[in-house]
Amino acid sequence: MPYDPNRNALWGVANTLGAALLAFGVAITGPAAASERDEAYHRDYIYGVPDDPSEAWLMANGARLYDNWINALDADKPEGTHPAWPASNTKKKGGVTWRCKSCHGWDYAGKDGAYAKGSYKTGIKGVRAFAGKDPAEIHKVLMAPVHGFTHEMIPKDAMLRIAAFVSRGQVDVSKYVNADKTVNGDPEKGKPIFQNICAACHGFDGKALDWGDPGDPGFVGTEAQGNPWETLHKIRAGHPGVEMPALMAFPIQDLVDLLSYTQTLPAE
Ligand code: HEC
Ligand code: HEC
Repeated sequence: MPYDPNRNALWGVANTLGAALLAFGVAITGPAAASERDEAYHRDYIYGVPDDPSEAWLMANGARLYDNWINALDADKPEGTHPAWPASNTKKKGGVTWRCKSCHGWDYAGKDGAYAKGSYKTGIKGVRAFAGKDPAEIHKVLMAPVHGFTHEMIPKDAMLRIAAFVSRGQVDVSKYVNADKTVNGDPEKGKPIFQNICAACHGFDGKALDWGDPGDPGFVGTEAQGNPWETLHKIRAGHPGVEMPALMAFPIQDLVDLLSYTQTLPAE
């Protein structure tokens, strides 16, 4: 199903309930109406497009699509494993193989970066050579047979934002994150950013949200120590499909300092 900004399962349920209440003669006023309005604003932040998007918004949105366009668009997963996913890699299959980052990396360097080894090893090159290229040319590459994408899956406007990110939003991550996962930042400078922004949802220790498995937690500290490339991407872009703010508008070195601080947080 193509992307429809008004489509959301919970929202549908809320509307159906609302209609049912109205049918029974119960007018929805006050708090109920306010919470519907709030819900629409939250949804708009996650899936909507501003009328007059800033460059930093475009880059952050393109980066979220690069991370996971399926969740960023609330779209359906394509069937099966991506045709370009190499048979030699049996560790990953299905929907995850359709994410740009799965083939081209969190560091945009593909086989020449962190995905030279590990469960996302594919031998596929990165997108670094396309930094600075015309987004229209990148759009052509995305629509080429090797990629198997259609505008049913990724609407053209969204695909052009991914292309814009590849052209103008990606950075040379090797300047900030070293191969041994150490980060060229100052944790003392990153600490106030974490405590004032990130802690709102992740807690002062980064442990308030856990995306790991039982016995194998996934906290901010776990992610930052284990995969600083991914963490830097998410700091700049936010996390697709949730209301995490993107810090793309701020100087990259501030975000690298923040990344350094997140590496000091507990991993478990
Ligand atoms: C299943 C793996 C896979 C996925 C997912 C994938 N690509 Fe690719 N991509 C490839 C392959 C294979 C090539 C061709 C590489 C080559 O020519 O050696 C390629 C080439 C490219 C190139 C040209 C790189 C160059 O230097 O020639 C760009 C840019 C690119 N992809 C961007 C993207 C973006 C953006 C997405 C997500 C919307 C994406 N790709 C998703 C496999 C993938
Ligand atoms: C408004 C709430 C909110 C704020 C503020 C926020 N986040 Fe998040 N963040 C989330 C949510 C929700 C998730 C998804 C967690 C999940 O998948 O269970 C998430 C996910 C993440 C992830 C990755 C999870 C994964 O699956 O790999 C990282 C890393 C992260 N946040 C770091 C940060 C950092 C650093 C900051 C400060 C710049 C921040 N977050 C600010 C809500 C927030």
